[in-house]
Amino acid sequence: MTDRATDLLPLLRDRRSVRAFDPDHVVPDDDLASLLEAARWAPSAGNSQPWAFLVARRGTPEHAAYVALLAGSTRRWAPAAGALVFTLHQVADGEDLDLAYSDYAAYDLGQAVAHLTVQAAHLGLSCHQFAAFDHDGLAREAQVPPHWRVTTGVAVGRVTEREVGVRTRRPARWRTSAGSGRPSGDAALRLCLVSE
Ligand SMILES: Cc1cc2nc3c(=O)[nH]c(=O)nc-3n(C[C@H](O)[C@H](O)[C@H](O)COP(=O)(O)O)c2cc1C
Repeated sequence: MTDRATDLLPLLRDRRSVRAFDPDHVVPDDDLASLLEAARWAPSAGNSQPWAFLVARRGTPEHAAYVALLAGSTRRWAPAAGALVFTLHQVADGEDLDLAYSDYAAYDLGQAVAHLTVQAAHLGLSCHQFAAFDHDGLAREAQVPPHWRVTTGVAVGRVTEREVGVRTRRPARWRTSAGSGRPSGDAALRLCLVSE
């Protein structure tokens, strides 16, 4: 990693989307509950909590059914993870919900999943989020009501080896209304941090 990444909270600095999951590792029930609890306590617009999660542990019939819906690229690494978690966000009001639909539901789900991944790191688990699967097929398989949208999957497990791939990011550029360059003084108040 480069730039100022060394200053980051270690749980954030060391997180990575791993592919080398240990196919023998079982994610403890308490750990799965802890991940969902982390998501549950994420902030959301009006405290709407417009998220839901489908959890399938490796070796269960649900897991086998979900694996069949993964794209080929995902099927190479995700099935070995101890659990697959599929994420959903609310897209309309529903009779089963006591909270109104919020336009920020997708934003809120993303933040909840971010919390989940940080909690996973705290527990010594790794996550790899993915979009490459049959979303409609999953909605049918899990009988997801129409006011929910299947959004992403998260493979959760223990990594077998230290992955050596280099993580990269586009360079950060500091821009202020006074022009480019690192901000100082009042300029920092009008700061934007943008990527090229
Ligand atoms: C919404 C979302 C969808 C993603 N979809 C896939 C995917 O389908 N397949 C995959 O291998 N990785 C997927 N990723 C992982 C990203 O490729 C990864 O986060 C990115 O390359 C940065 O790497 P890092 O997480 O190790 O920092 C996805 C990540 C997110 C947040």
